[in-house]
Amino acid sequence: MGNVPVIALLFFSFLLLPYASFSLPLCTDSRAPVTLNTTLTFCPYNGPTCCDSTEDVQLQRQFQAMNISSPDCASLLKSVLCARCDPFSAELFTISSTPRQVAVLCNSSVSANSTQSTQAANDFCSKVWDTCENVSVANSPFAPSLQGQAGLPGNSSITKLTDQWQSKSDFCSSFGGESADESVCFAGEPVTFNETGTPSAPHGMCLEKIGNGSYLNMAPHPDGSNRAFFGNQQGQIWLATIPELGSGGTLEIDESNPFIDLTDEVNFNTEFGMMGIAFHPNFAKNGRFFASFNCDKVKWPGCAGRCSCNSDVNCDPSKLPLDNGAQPCQFQAVVAEYSANGTASSEVSLATSAKPIEVRRILTMGLPFTAHHGGQILFGPNDGYLYFMMGDGGGTGGDPYNFAQNKKSLLGKIIRLDVDNIPSAAEISKLGLWGNYSIPKDNPFAEDSALLPEIWALGLRNPWRCSFDSERPSYFVCADVGQDTYEEVDLISKGGNYGWRVYEGPDLFHPTASAGGNTSANSISPIFPVMGYTHSEVNKNEGSASITGGYFYRSNTDPCMYGRYLYGDLYAGAMWAGIETPENSGNFTANRIPFSCAKDSPLQCTSVPGSALPALGYLFSFGEDNKKDVFILASSGVYRVVPPSRCNYSCSKENATATTTGPGPTTLPPSYASHFHYSRVLALFSSLLVLLFFSCV
Ligand SMILES: *[C@@H]1O[C@H](CO)[C@@H](O)[C@H](O)[C@H]1NC(C)=O
Ligand SMILES: *[C@@H]1O[C@H](CO)[C@@H](O)[C@H](O)[C@H]1NC(C)=O
Ligand SMILES: *[C@@H]1O[C@H](CO)[C@@H](O)[C@H](O)[C@H]1NC(C)=O
Ligand SMILES: *[C@@H]1O[C@H](CO)[C@@H](O)[C@H](O)[C@H]1NC(C)=O
Ligand SMILES: *[C@@H]1O[C@H](CO)[C@@H](O)[C@H](O)[C@H]1NC(C)=O
Ligand SMILES: *[C@@H]1O[C@H](CO)[C@@H](O)[C@H](O)[C@H]1NC(C)=O
Ligand SMILES: *[C@@H]1O[C@H](CO)[C@@H](O)[C@H](O)[C@H]1NC(C)=O
Ligand SMILES: *[C@@H]1O[C@H](CO)[C@@H](O)[C@H](O)[C@H]1NC(C)=O
Ligand SMILES: *[C@@H]1O[C@H](CO)[C@@H](O)[C@H](O)[C@H]1NC(C)=O
Ligand SMILES: *[C@@H]1O[C@H](CO)[C@@H](O)[C@H](O)[C@H]1NC(C)=O
Ligand SMILES: *[C@@H]1O[C@H](CO)[C@@H](O)[C@H](O)[C@H]1NC(C)=O
Ligand SMILES: *[C@@H]1O[C@H](CO)[C@@H](O)[C@H](O)[C@H]1NC(C)=O
Repeated sequence: MGNVPVIALLFFSFLLLPYASFSLPLCTDSRAPVTLNTTLTFCPYNGPTCCDSTEDVQLQRQFQAMNISSPDCASLLKSVLCARCDPFSAELFTISSTPRQVAVLCNSSVSANSTQSTQAANDFCSKVWDTCENVSVANSPFAPSLQGQAGLPGNSSITKLTDQWQSKSDFCSSFGGESADESVCFAGEPVTFNETGTPSAPHGMCLEKIGNGSYLNMAPHPDGSNRAFFGNQQGQIWLATIPELGSGGTLEIDESNPFIDLTDEVNFNTEFGMMGIAFHPNFAKNGRFFASFNCDKVKWPGCAGRCSCNSDVNCDPSKLPLDNGAQPCQFQAVVAEYSANGTASSEVSLATSAKPIEVRRILTMGLPFTAHHGGQILFGPNDGYLYFMMGDGGGTGGDPYNFAQNKKSLLGKIIRLDVDNIPSAAEISKLGLWGNYSIPKDNPFAEDSALLPEIWALGLRNPWRCSFDSERPSYFVCADVGQDTYEEVDLISKGGNYGWRVYEGPDLFHPTASAGGNTSANSISPIFPVMGYTHSEVNKNEGSASITGGYFYRSNTDPCMYGRYLYGDLYAGAMWAGIETPENSGNFTANRIPFSCAKDSPLQCTSVPGSALPALGYLFSFGEDNKKDVFILASSGVYRVVPPSRCNYSCSKENATATTTGPGPTTLPPSYASHFHYSRVLALFSSLLVLLFFSCV
């Protein structure tokens, strides 16, 4: 554990750099650009843009007020003003977290390795200087004295660039910048990327089996060590040690000694159970951790929260039908806080158990039906807020009460909470909050007062596994389970509406029940999935499909997988790796990838009868450890992605990358053990989760 403090230090210094890099289409207010119904009349942005017609008109007025006599300069400055509308405006205006008044102007030719188009990029900053240096401009956006108030009518402070800057290099050191791998600059035209061609897909993904337990959740120990927490659906969490890659070792986990056991509180049944676990980014110091689970208020007095079917959303619980024999809001979604400090001599890292005593209730919400309540919890790596993924609540399928589009409902939403600043009980009740948390100031309700303040994004059906790209934390990706036809992957952004149930994936959805009213397609600006698959792609009889979202693969263990977003289907017959081409463009292409189990796997894998595919059982979740290796949590056990050569997949990059990987083990465990266990696990789980994420009843 000698390098643990170093890793921890890196981790925390990273936390201090909020939004250091965006590198995806995002607006300055952190929202995703939208494709408008109408075209802008002034700024040349068709397709996704960060302006609406009102802002377009404002920019036009601002431009006219500048009263620029030189047409060449006018045309350049028009483009500079219009950069506000660029789908990459967050990147252009917020370099290194400092907001800028003017977009960063490309001031040097782009390196040959960059993907941004070099055509117009050649020194746009010089071009602006050369064309405009002597031109009088009223309320120039470049004039420091007027920053923030350009275009005030009746106040024309007329300046030339030469009034403020001695030389071109002076000017360009203020406004210029380069396009690099992780950032873009403005070259006078909407930011575009050269089509670099899609790199060929990996030949296959090689797995080794390292554990035979069945878990829904994995969270690396925040101390940076080679340990991770594994949680099962029943409500137990274990602290396990992950074997060194290539050591032939298995997961060191003592099933008889859980880190914490919440099975008394957790209602475990089909889609119910402990759905999420999250460790505070500062867990190693404060010992705070969180569990997201379902409870039954008939069985546990602590299971009492406001019903999500209530008068705010025009829902009368007494009129809801029983679902699987359950009363509305008999079952609830809970996020509760626990503590691991004080359990081991002052050092949280040494703690191997925690008391199942709730420190604080973060949130309690009654569920209308028995399905689609997501439940994952994650801390945002940039902002330290707790993200809570909530499904539409289920019902007969098709979100009958239209909860996902209802801005006064937390169902069908990504919820974002501040759990570091807890208001007083009086304040909580005054604000009508669902528990002990406060609302991050930059949640989108500030701009859309109709939204409940907890909401970060809406229009989701049953987000089943979200993750932040560890290298680009602004890439927050969720897989959202589909209804009848389409399983989707969404790039989640502030205030984004992901369409359900107006849309299922990219297609209009036609609901059969509309008890909660309808939302018209024209009234929303849906953000369509960046990847996904149709049910018919994985299952000929248009039925059993349910997506499980994974991670951007950021380990060098499989260098051919590096940078690709991995996801799969719950039924485990199919996995995909999605690549963004060009890089940082937000444009993804996914390839279905073959996978198999290494012959030298520490625990032997069983195969699907009559096939080479490993029989994973159900693919519940993916996991990532502190080394960024990716794991698959399946009903049959825990698998790790290993070098492709161990499965004889060729990957030309593999031998070029220095890896510490040694050869696999030479001895195999007795195969009957895993066979035995596999059938036991299958028997246990055959009644669980299957057909339950997917409910087109
Ligand atoms: C969007 O376009 C459609 C068809 O062109 C039109 O019926 C609708 O009113 C427009 N919606 C808005 C919000 O402008
Ligand atoms: C615009 O500039 C011209 C000179 O180039 C000047 O005559 C005119 O008054 C200005 N208009 C405004 C509204 O300031
Ligand atoms: C481009 O990338 C290659 C390999 O990654 C590197 O060797 C080369 O120096 C880079 N060239 C430039 C101009 O950055
Ligand atoms: C981008 O495209 C332009 C024009 O098609 C070309 O001249 C340039 O070399 C390309 N840049 C890269 C990095 O491929
Ligand atoms: C701007 O004025 C300076 C000094 O009069 C002159 O040297 C320069 O060429 C002018 N630039 C342009 C683009 O007219
Ligand atoms: C223009 O605005 C600036 C800054 O607010 C102010 O100092 C200046 O007096 C104003 N000029 C006129 C003519 O109103
Ligand atoms: C380009 O911009 C960078 C960053 O602002 C600056 O350091 C550099 O000096 C500029 N280059 C030129 C040639 O002006
Ligand atoms: C997105 O990627 C695909 C596949 O590489 C490519 O055909 C398409 O042109 C790209 N679209 C954009 C807008 O770059
Ligand atoms: C796998 O299951 C077998 C049989 O239940 C058990 O003996 C073995 O310890 C388990 N191995 C691991 C790594 O969990
Ligand atoms: C845990 O740590 C916090 C913050 O350091 C402290 O306030 C709290 O009393 C500790 N709890 C226990 C049980 O030691
Ligand atoms: C806040 O947490 C305390 C302690 O767990 C709990 O008693 C209280 O009910 C919670 N408040 C709300 C609104 O959930
Ligand atoms: C890379 O190395 C592995 C293990 O040493 C070997 O099996 C494989 O054939 C090599 N692949 C290539 C493309 O050279």
